[in-house]
Amino acid sequence: TGICDNFLLAVYLSAKCPVMLAPAMDRDMYLHQSTQANLQELNGRGHIIVDPGTGELASGLEGKGRMAEAEELFEKIDEFFHPDLKLKGLNALVTAGPTYERIDPVRFIGNFSTGKMGYAIAEELARQGASVTLVSGPSHERVVDHRINLIKVTSAQEMFDACVGLWEQTNIGVMSAAVADYRPKQMAKEKIKKTSSSLSIELEKTTDILAHLGKNKTGQYLVGFALETSNELENAKLKLKNKNLDLIVLNSLNDKGAGFGHDTNKVTLLSVSNKITSFELKSKAAVAADIVRTIIEEK
Ligand code: CTP
Repeated sequence: TGICDNFLLAVYLSAKCPVMLAPAMDRDMYLHQSTQANLQELNGRGHIIVDPGTGELASGLEGKGRMAEAEELFEKIDEFFHPDLKLKGLNALVTAGPTYERIDPVRFIGNFSTGKMGYAIAEELARQGASVTLVSGPSHERVVDHRINLIKVTSAQEMFDACVGLWEQTNIGVMSAAVADYRPKQMAKEKIKKTSSSLSIELEKTTDILAHLGKNKTGQYLVGFALETSNELENAKLKLKNKNLDLIVLNSLNDKGAGFGHDTNKVTLLSVSNKITSFELKSKAAVAADIVRTIIEEK
């Protein structure tokens, strides 16, 4: 490490560019007065300090001192080179994935949504500088960006509660979850036995989260999704109006490679200002970039 330290010192002392430091050391060393004073001194010289993380340390101690994760370092560098991020200072709320509505302790009503589209939108919003909360139903997708606050829920009611609690402080809402429209009126306490030849389960409507948020807008920009099989544009326009949206993303089930389970999607965006834009079949990450760019332009 001696050679390495000397090399780093030589690079540092001759650097004319901005310097970013990611300290990593044992907890007690990091907390020591002299380390803290040195970090303050370096900060005072205009260097950017990326705080260490908290957790298990090489010494076996628990605490602050772990070097920031590579993803976090990348995000900080990205932020440095893009100070003009369009959504900086704004709070975004995204829903993704399916919801599961319990029938009995071992069964549920669900759908085939994977959450891919919503997770891609959350990543893109965060890349543009927004503080993102992602409320996700059961999904195997992973959040990559550290700046995304992930709230995991199971049912439509849990998703509704999480969204309503966050709505007031939200600036941009993108409701891409495939929320169940109906749930069993009553959940059986015991596992339902196959004693009779047929089974009826009474269903009741869930609350439409998107419509509820649209009704309670206080300046938020609200985006909804529509999955249509016929009269696509007309139906999407109607949903835009009825749910008080600013933008609606129309998915057509008639398009090959689009929708549930695919890595690609083909969408048409309809805005409240009557602008209609149809995009080609693209990766969901590229579709997310188109949606977020439109939000930035129209907002
Ligand atoms: N949505 C919601 N809460 C629900 C149902 C739907 O927030 N309980 C949102 C979805 O996240 C999506 C949009 O509403 O943004 C999708 O609506 P969709 O299911 O296509 O249409 P509906 O309005 O439910 O009408 P219909 O199923 O009759 O077409």
